Amino acid sequence: MTHQEIREKFRKFMGSKGHKWVASSSLLPSDPSVLFTTAGMQQFKQYYTDPSSAPAANVASIQKCMRTSDIDEVGDESHLTFFEMLGNFSFNGYWKREATQYAHEFIIKEMGLKIDHVSIFGGEGDIPADEESEKIWREIAPEIVIKKFGRADNFWGPTGNEGPCGPTTEIYVNGIEVWNLVFNQCYKHPDGRLEALESPGVDTGMGLERLAMAVQKKENVFGTDLFEPLIQMLPQDNISKKVHRIIADHARAAAFIISDGVTPSNKDKGYVLRRLIRRIIVQCHLNGIEIEAMNDIFAKIVELYSQYYPELDISKIKSIFAVENEKFQKTFKNGLKELEKMGSVDNASAFKLYESFGLPFDVIQEVGGSKASSLTRNGFEEERKRHQEISRAGVEKKFGGHGMKEGDLTAANKEELWKKTRLHTATHIIVAALERVLGQKLPQAGSDIMAERLRFDFTFPRKVTLEELKKAENIANDIVAKDLPVICEEMDLQVALDSGASAFFKLKYPPRVKVYSIGESGAYFSRELCGGPHVSRTGQVGHITITKEESVSGGNRRIRAVVN
Ligand code: SER
Repeated sequence: MTHQEIREKFRKFMGSKGHKWVASSSLLPSDPSVLFTTAGMQQFKQYYTDPSSAPAANVASIQKCMRTSDIDEVGDESHLTFFEMLGNFSFNGYWKREATQYAHEFIIKEMGLKIDHVSIFGGEGDIPADEESEKIWREIAPEIVIKKFGRADNFWGPTGNEGPCGPTTEIYVNGIEVWNLVFNQCYKHPDGRLEALESPGVDTGMGLERLAMAVQKKENVFGTDLFEPLIQMLPQDNISKKVHRIIADHARAAAFIISDGVTPSNKDKGYVLRRLIRRIIVQCHLNGIEIEAMNDIFAKIVELYSQYYPELDISKIKSIFAVENEKFQKTFKNGLKELEKMGSVDNASAFKLYESFGLPFDVIQEVGGSKASSLTRNGFEEERKRHQEISRAGVEKKFGGHGMKEGDLTAANKEELWKKTRLHTATHIIVAALERVLGQKLPQAGSDIMAERLRFDFTFPRKVTLEELKKAENIANDIVAKDLPVICEEMDLQVALDSGASAFFKLKYPPRVKVYSIGESGAYFSRELCGGPHVSRTGQVGHITITKEESVSGGNRRIRAVVN
């Protein structure tokens, strides 16, 4: 049975039991307390407390999901970052009996599988055992072995720091859990308190990859038709299964989250994407796999899935991967050399390698081998936090907690300074973008940055059209998306001017100046004489919107813009 047939059977089966089919939601959830969509129920969360707002009492879906806590484990037989979940849900509709019956019937009759055993909630603390589920299983399948566990195993949820939750019953086939049936009968408040839900709800989730593995009688998920076609495209000789799996898993995940709108950065979702892409790049390098092979893998992924996920965008996937590759190729090889030279690697030196060369933690651990044996993910993350605190404390100390001045900017506090710093870099980006659109250097005539907006004047003989502004804005946001480095160098004024750096023609400059460049050396997007401060990468600027263009005195034009 192919994965296509499994999907179809599930859809038909749930339809025949009165479920309305709902499309998968984005991997980027509206629930801000979670980074990615991790379960099918996430898009339905509010219906458990407000069933009347649901599109139907009973719904079913196949949901794309991302779980990133085990990213370093990918490469063994079972861990995945991206996966799909088949699920049926009820909001004050049916309850434990129907949910259990449907699951049993689907596994036995539709999938032709045998159930090894099921587990149920055996009670813990104040929460009583789920006797109802035990009774239902005894009636439906008297021969079945029922195992009982506590809260860690058989009580689910909530996603985020509050929400519906309740006891579960899990179905095991060939030794692995394939289906998790959650009976949402409680609501967990942020303080941990459990309250009974007014109306009960059902939330079930069955991993497509695991189900396919059982149905297709494979030893692990990587043998199924969801992975095999991808792995087959990679060179087979002298390359471990682990490497195949990492590349296949990370390529799927990257393709899906890029298509949902994530770009690589050093924060949150962007950081996850960056880790995935960089791990692919390093694995390709270490195993002599041509990086171009990834384009074919991405194309295959889109071919496999586009029927179900039309949002998959091959050109976006390829271009974001190419940009990150371009950026990373330059530095990581130096990082690997540096790592080779080092005697032993502890968490602090690993973090330095990450900061200076972009080497991901797991790569340092893997390539470092025995000399990196003291590394831990937690220790590394601690270093990261410590480092962030030091830079923050540095700003505070410098400005004594009162009004602060740094370079060309003054601000009331460090939040404001940061906002103005972002706007300051945005000013450089917009000027350079406009110069490209208008096809000439723009003599700058003044700049004024407030916390809520930037403003700058330049000499130009006519109105800049809306279309030109839009083009410039697009270029500017492209530069933000590329997360280019912003580099500061000190040099002699004449050297700076000779190197093509822009300057305010009215200003008198000292003999030594600071030059801020955006982009890689040799291919600068912008290069200006400036007192700073600026962000260190363009991704930190955020989305740029040009809000106004007008004429001001002296034959100058004035632009205002905001960042979000
Ligand atoms: N929410 C449960 C899970 O993710 C069942 O769908 O396992």
